[in-house]
Amino acid sequence: MNILGISGMPRKNGNSEILLNAALEPFAEAQWHIERFLLSEKKVEMCIGCETCRERKTCFINDDMEKLYDAYSKCDAILIAAPAYWRNVPAQLKAVFDRTYAVGEKKLLEGKLGGTIAVGRGSSGGQSIVLNIIHNFYLSSGVLCVPGELNGVTASADKPGDILDQPRRLEQARILGRNIIKYAK
Ligand SMILES: Cc1cc2nc3c(=O)[nH]c(=O)nc-3n(C[C@H](O)[C@H](O)[C@H](O)COP(=O)(O)O)c2cc1C
Repeated sequence: MNILGISGMPRKNGNSEILLNAALEPFAEAQWHIERFLLSEKKVEMCIGCETCRERKTCFINDDMEKLYDAYSKCDAILIAAPAYWRNVPAQLKAVFDRTYAVGEKKLLEGKLGGTIAVGRGSSGGQSIVLNIIHNFYLSSGVLCVPGELNGVTASADKPGDILDQPRRLEQARILGRNIIKYAK
C-alpha cells in the first residue's frame, strides 16, 4: 500500500511538515510505502489557463508536477498538510490543485482516501478554512475524506518547531494516519 504525503508550505521543517511526519509514522509501522512531496523542495509553476490539457490530457509545463501525477496514480491514500496564509492555502499548494486539473479526466485520485492537517499562528487563524479548501480539492478529485479525532487536524503554531511542544496535536496527527490505515482495510 502507498501513502502520498504532500507538505503544502514553502518553508522547510515548518510545523505542518512536522505534523505531516507524525501522521506518516503509523504508515511506516504498517509497512506502507511512503512518498513525500515537499513543496519546499519542489518546483511547481502556476497554471496559466491555456486549457491545452483538455486536448493533451496532461500539462505542457515541464516541472515537478510530472512526479506528482505519477505519485497520484500509485498512491492508495493521500495526506496534505498546509499552513494558513491569509486564511487560505499557500499559493504553492493552490498551484498543485490548479495543475491537477490537467489530469482531471484520468481520475487518478478517485476512490482513494485523504487526510488533512492545517496550521496557523492564531487560535482561530483560518485553520478550519484551510481544512475545507483541502477537503474540497479531495471531493472534487473523488477522494474520500477521512476524519482525524474530530475533523482534520488543526493546530496553532508559529516558529518552526513550535509544534513539538504540543504532544496532543502530534498524537492527533498520528490518529489521523491510523484512521486512514483502518479505513483502507
Ligand atoms: C504570508 C503569510 C500569511 C499568513 N497568514 C496567516 C493566517 O491567515 N492565519 C494564521 O493563523 N497564520 C497565518 N500565518 C502564520 C503561519 O500560518 C504560521 O506561521 C504557520 O506556523 C506556518 O506554517 P509552517 O510552520 O508549517 O511553515 C501567515 C504566515 C505567512 C508567511
